[in-house]
Amino acid sequence: MCPSDVSTQWHAFLSALPKCEHHVHLEGCLEPDLIFTLASKNNVSLPSPSENPAYTSIETLSERYGHFSSLDDFLSFYFIGMTVLKTQSDFAELAWTYFKRAHEEGVHHAEVFFDPQVHLERGVAYRTVVDGYVQGCKRAESELGISTRLIMCFLKHLPLQSAQDLYHTALKEGDLDFEGRDPVIHGLGASSSEVGPPKDLFRPIYLSAKERGINLTAHAGEEGDASYILAALEKGATRIDHGIRLVEDPALMERIAREEVLLTVCPVSNVQLKCVKSVGEVPIRKFLDAGVRFSINSDDPAYFGAYILECYCAVQEAFGLSLAEWKTIAENGVKGSWIGEERKNELLGRIDECVKRFEGVL
Ligand code: ADE
Ligand code: ZN
Repeated sequence: MCPSDVSTQWHAFLSALPKCEHHVHLEGCLEPDLIFTLASKNNVSLPSPSENPAYTSIETLSERYGHFSSLDDFLSFYFIGMTVLKTQSDFAELAWTYFKRAHEEGVHHAEVFFDPQVHLERGVAYRTVVDGYVQGCKRAESELGISTRLIMCFLKHLPLQSAQDLYHTALKEGDLDFEGRDPVIHGLGASSSEVGPPKDLFRPIYLSAKERGINLTAHAGEEGDASYILAALEKGATRIDHGIRLVEDPALMERIAREEVLLTVCPVSNVQLKCVKSVGEVPIRKFLDAGVRFSINSDDPAYFGAYILECYCAVQEAFGLSLAEWKTIAENGVKGSWIGEERKNELLGRIDECVKRFEGVL
């Protein structure tokens, strides 16, 4: 399951360690074989091999995924892949398949992204998408005991109006209702192309959401420099997705550490999208030394060939962290999760128990 060179004991520990995943796009869990299967079931035409030879077969598509040249190169495949999803059960099954795999790899809590705008643009109803994903989340909670959170992303390459329409639909449907009950959608995020669109594109939405007490995160500092991270904080984000270029601004890094902002780092994604040359270049050591809180995540595992455990193992292989450092990483993931104190304490207890069990072994 995991091709890294970490020892059997480390692999066993990282597998057993109770993990939180905060950065995985459900549409990024569409494996190539499922893309072809759903395209055929739903009568969706994928690009013809003459238009794009990558779509000749499952094998050619998987092979092409190994050679992304940038974030935008990857996104061109990602936005085609998701067009095969049509029915509520397609969305439910996709989410369930991810949760099953995450559970096998030791995830106890998952906060998952989804991208409704692309589905709405091609005529899939908002409720079909949300109800399908909710169905997958509920099944994971009841059958696997994972706690889940849905985070709805706005796409930066589309006009502001499209995001505003989506925001107002979610409000009207009561899915972002934080008063007195558990909302259907627990947070809002921003993803897609980073360098190009204005840094504060979604400012009006974020300011409105902040007033309503909605949790806010944003992709920033992935390809773009640290000023994108600052812009995300200034419009109200309390979490940063990726954020690896934070190290270029020591003062901002100090602020992020002080304010206990969680970075959702995706080391294998960063390598696959050529943001860094190797996992060893991801500033894991610098973040640990500066007291910056971060979690380790898969981002788009079906496109980058690595689910969460492989990402953890890749970090261990590159940095040789200690048991105590892994404990801190796992605990910070829990502390930065959008869950209540009771669930946090439960997860912290499980981490403590697991680390104790491995103290004599590692
Ligand atoms: N959407 C899916 N994966 C993404 C990534 N790594 N960065 C920005 N947007 C994304
Ligand atoms: Zn992402």
